[in-house]
Amino acid sequence: MATSIVILAAGEGRRMRSKRPKVLQPLGEGTLLDHVLQAAAAASPAQLIVVVGHQAQQVQAAYPALNCEWVHQPRQQGTADALACALPAISADHGVVVLYGDVPLLTPDTVRRLADRAQQAVVLATTQLADPTGYGRIVRDDAGELLEVVEERDATEAQRRLCEVNTGMLAAPARWLRALLPQVDCDNAQREYYLPAVLPLARQAGHPLVGIAIDEEEAAGANDRAQLAGLEARLRRRRVKALLQAGVTVRDPARLDVRGNVVCEADVELDVGVVLEGEVELGADVHVGAHCILRNCRIGPNARIEPHSLIDGAVIGAGCSVGPYARLRPGTRLAERARVGNFVEVKAAGIGTGSKVNHLSYIGDAELGAGVNVGAGTITCNYDGRAKHRTEIGDGAFVGSNTTLVAPVSVGAQAVVGAATLLRHDAPATGLTFTAVEQRTIPDWSRADD
Ligand code: UD1
Ligand code: CA
Repeated sequence: MATSIVILAAGEGRRMRSKRPKVLQPLGEGTLLDHVLQAAAAASPAQLIVVVGHQAQQVQAAYPALNCEWVHQPRQQGTADALACALPAISADHGVVVLYGDVPLLTPDTVRRLADRAQQAVVLATTQLADPTGYGRIVRDDAGELLEVVEERDATEAQRRLCEVNTGMLAAPARWLRALLPQVDCDNAQREYYLPAVLPLARQAGHPLVGIAIDEEEAAGANDRAQLAGLEARLRRRRVKALLQAGVTVRDPARLDVRGNVVCEADVELDVGVVLEGEVELGADVHVGAHCILRNCRIGPNARIEPHSLIDGAVIGAGCSVGPYARLRPGTRLAERARVGNFVEVKAAGIGTGSKVNHLSYIGDAELGAGVNVGAGTITCNYDGRAKHRTEIGDGAFVGSNTTLVAPVSVGAQAVVGAATLLRHDAPATGLTFTAVEQRTIPDWSRADD
């Protein structure tokens, strides 16, 4: 039995007070819509439709490769009107699942539960909220049967006290919706065509109505920035919980942000203020100090990332030590037990086994062998204003402090480069290379007269 999923994403989202369309507001690693799309995809629907309207071009442009049908809602006249715009694209024998682009924490399981029943009933996902403000309230009869949804603005005092709310997620056979949607009117406070208004109409037509209860966590919508921040906190809690269950020590679950897919082996330890973004893999016993940002990186077992480091697009070997205050940029590869210390920037460079770049250096477009020592303040001059050039440093080389390596240039294995050398030509293996600048003293120097 084929299912079509329709995501409503045409609304203006005025309450966000933003230039950006609401469904493109950020949440975790992506946008609100990203999360809804992911949950929808997990149900493998036969058809996926996204209804866009307000700033439609911007929304569509954000998903150039999305495998879906875009449907345009010319005027934002309400959620029933939005679904009506999509219906002609759906074959009559499909079950339809409607999701809202601003209700992003739903789980794939909930989408599947809706899809499973979309051929037999009008199914509405509801939840209980301690504070139902802003949501449509669920009205039931004395027997507990679903009657209707009343929007807050249309609700009586008594109805406002109801704590069961409409999550927005709904399922029904396409052929029923075709018959029912044209009957929905806009006789309400907002003069809008409300999708939940199909419930009483379905009942009159003799169709079964089913409410399915879902977790409050999944139902949270984002109409304004405060709710958006609330969603971010919920998402963070959900992801931190998964890490804790995987055997990670999180010093303070309220101060860890996970905005991506994080895979951790046992006994990883994350200190406060850590942000994990994109695809992050942490080996057993990795320690990440306070206030580090780790983005798209792989870190081997027993490595230590000291506080205030930014790791972006790097692969770090077992037992390495990085930071404090290190910046590893994309293309950085640290072999086992390498050490990168404070105020060191590394980009598109390999640093060999046990090699050290411990203080105040820039290593870019370079390949360092094993057992290399790079002294404080050493810089690879990789850019000549036109192109990037490479620096190579062989195994066991010792580069003295404050050396300037003007690429393309190489330092041979076991070579020694004297402190403060301006290296414009290759330094041969095993030799001592330095640029001599004579040191002079003018005796009895008096400073300029006042
Ligand atoms: C809606 C429900 C409410 C429910 C709440 C759950 C209606 C009438 N109300 O209220 O019962 O408790 O969601 O979060 O459905 N949209 C369009 N076209 C439109 C209007 C809206 O595509 O013309 C889209 C919006 O982009 C949004 C979604 O539909 O993604 C919901 O619209 P919104 O205005 O946020 O409805 P709520 O007031 O939150
Ligand atoms: Ca909403």
